Amino acid sequence: MPDIRKNHTASSLPAECEPPIPIARPCYDEAEETAVAAVLRSGWVGQGPQVAAFEEVFAEYLGFGHAVAVSSGTSALHLALLAAGIKPGDAVIMPSFTFVATANAIEYIGARPVLVDINPATFNIDPDSVSATLDSLNPDERSNVKAIMPVSLFGRCAPMGEIKALAGQYGWKIIEDAACGLGASHHGISAGREAEMACFSFHPRKVICTGEGGMVTTDDSRVADSVRTLRNHAASVSGHDRHTGTGGSRLPDFKQLGYNYRMTDIQAAIGIEQMKKLPQFLATRREAAAVYDRLLESIPHIKAPVVPEGHIHAYQSYVCLYRPDEALSGQSIDTAAVEKLACHRNDLMDRLERAGIATRQGTHAVHTLAYYRDRYCFKADDFPASLMADRLSLALPLYYGITPADQERVVTALTNSL
Ligand SMILES: Cc1ncc(COP(=O)(O)O)c(C=O)c1O
Repeated sequence: MPDIRKNHTASSLPAECEPPIPIARPCYDEAEETAVAAVLRSGWVGQGPQVAAFEEVFAEYLGFGHAVAVSSGTSALHLALLAAGIKPGDAVIMPSFTFVATANAIEYIGARPVLVDINPATFNIDPDSVSATLDSLNPDERSNVKAIMPVSLFGRCAPMGEIKALAGQYGWKIIEDAACGLGASHHGISAGREAEMACFSFHPRKVICTGEGGMVTTDDSRVADSVRTLRNHAASVSGHDRHTGTGGSRLPDFKQLGYNYRMTDIQAAIGIEQMKKLPQFLATRREAAAVYDRLLESIPHIKAPVVPEGHIHAYQSYVCLYRPDEALSGQSIDTAAVEKLACHRNDLMDRLERAGIATRQGTHAVHTLAYYRDRYCFKADDFPASLMADRLSLALPLYYGITPADQERVVTALTNSL
């Protein structure tokens, strides 16, 4: 793979002539081009042998019994919930600070997302808030809870020890939203490894990218079979098997409601090449994160991401907090102060954009999104840590190919814009 991080020296161009720095950029070279060309020439571009090969590589890399490729991280979550037997009227616990897809997948089933607050230091679900939320439910509501969906957000593992203890106590299934978790681990255990099912995403903001794409991983062969069937309209025979076997002239039976959540062989061929580069992608992301950590040390208003003891961060995103100490009143989060600081954070992001530096809020507080707020009558301060993360998080550009000189430019612009 060519080293596109060659230019490590600061540019002498005037700031207005510098190329913009994007928030993320997928990295491809001749390997992906050749692999895609081979699929195009093969005459089979839909789900077929490349998808099967990508699944095998992915399962082996992470040590799962099965990996089932699908069209996106969102469809992975939807099918994992269905395969776990979640039904309309059930309830599923999830953090309030995550991408909307986590909650949407639960809504697709007709189940209810039970939101809980996060630990603002890690942006991940707070086990104490899970217990507090359970205490606030009436016995019927509590018995409706059938699963918990921890999210390993931004490439940092969710607190799986506590989650497993709670799930064991209440008999919940664990379906991990590991959309951002590829390459993350804690105490030597990879993201997704401790859940019955984990769901990964290969969207352009993720560590490897197939354009769109997702993967469900599990050790349970019945669950894997169920996801395989559901992704293909619940057909009893796959399209590829029908076309390459005998008797393909007749359509198979469809015994249940299924979906078209198939990944194409074009995407899978890209995925296979991206997996070969994964160790290098992860190593360079960690190097780049260390550069930011060092550059940000002297900037009091920006709190760099923390890495808990024993964790390896995959840095799917490098997400800081803007002036978090000023949002505290004693030990509590002052939501009025958060809203005031959010205006400054937003101005800061606008100024950086004008300087050609793309930043983003980390992700959003689901309870503040109009659909969820109105449907479940949430108030902004119901989940103060999630609100603070929504309003004060700041993701800096990070991707394979960003140079230390680019990062110096980002931090200089940040300092000048504060
Ligand atoms: C935490 C989280 N969950 C789910 C998803 C959905 O993945 P996809 O975009 O592949 O559908 C994302 C993607 O951005 C995500 O960040």
